[in-house]
Amino acid sequence: MAEVKRLTIPDLYAMRERGEKITFLTAYDYPMALLEDRAGVDLILVGDSVAMTVLGYDTTLPMTMDEMILFTKAVRRAAKRAFVIGDLPYMSYQASNEEAVHNAGRFMAECGTDAVKLEGGRRMAERVEAIVRAGIPVMGHIGLTPQSYTQLGGYRAQGRDAATARALIDDALALQEAGAFAILLECIPAKVAEIIYDKLEILVLSLGSGPKADGQMMIVHDMLGLFERFTPKFVKRYVNLSEQILGAFKAFIEDTKQGRFPQPEHLYNIPEEEFKRLQELLKR
Ligand code: KIV
Repeated sequence: MAEVKRLTIPDLYAMRERGEKITFLTAYDYPMALLEDRAGVDLILVGDSVAMTVLGYDTTLPMTMDEMILFTKAVRRAAKRAFVIGDLPYMSYQASNEEAVHNAGRFMAECGTDAVKLEGGRRMAERVEAIVRAGIPVMGHIGLTPQSYTQLGGYRAQGRDAATARALIDDALALQEAGAFAILLECIPAKVAEIIYDKLEILVLSLGSGPKADGQMMIVHDMLGLFERFTPKFVKRYVNLSEQILGAFKAFIEDTKQGRFPQPEHLYNIPEEEFKRLQELLKR
């Protein structure tokens, strides 16, 4: 089988040059990452949203670096072509440049990620600069940044008035200046995102921030109908897997209760002669 080449930052910029949109999804485990990679998804974020989508927490804040490492290793094992990004969890980078560099380095060295992502604009520019100086590519993330949901007043669109929109533009420019190779805009009005896009030279990815971007992102559990607690307006649901999985579970229960499972094709056989020998043995 031909060896698959892993995407690099120059490959991603080349996609933009030729007008090809970049596709970006979250993944947290081996089977999902395998399917995304096989389908041709370009970027995979092992997001700390795993706290809510998989582990059942109300927020992303409880995730630790060690837990993120476990999920990220599984995704990296599956993703042969996709560019994999480790999401720095709450309090793994906020306190100091040293901690930020150390934890970003853990993603690279222990998991083999291609880059890391962190939340925040101007106030995190110093951290981005320090991590980039250590040779680690960084994706910035502004707008609705879930680790600051209390400060932001909940999970809601950001930059809907002139002053906060202006602040987001300044944040984006500061991240570019700090050396980020890309920026993710989450839940920002499309017209504001368009201004940011026009002002930046680095790659711009949109999560609920309109079409003017180098690529589009979605949380995989949202698009597959696997996260039912709430569905943001910007989500396009491609399939309702919850319904299909529920159907499969109910069919299994029904089959078992009615004695329709297992059938002969699900059984292992012992050669007749061995079985006779066993019966002889049991007579002794
Ligand atoms: O953790 C995550 O999945 C994220 C996305 C919301 C961008 O940070």
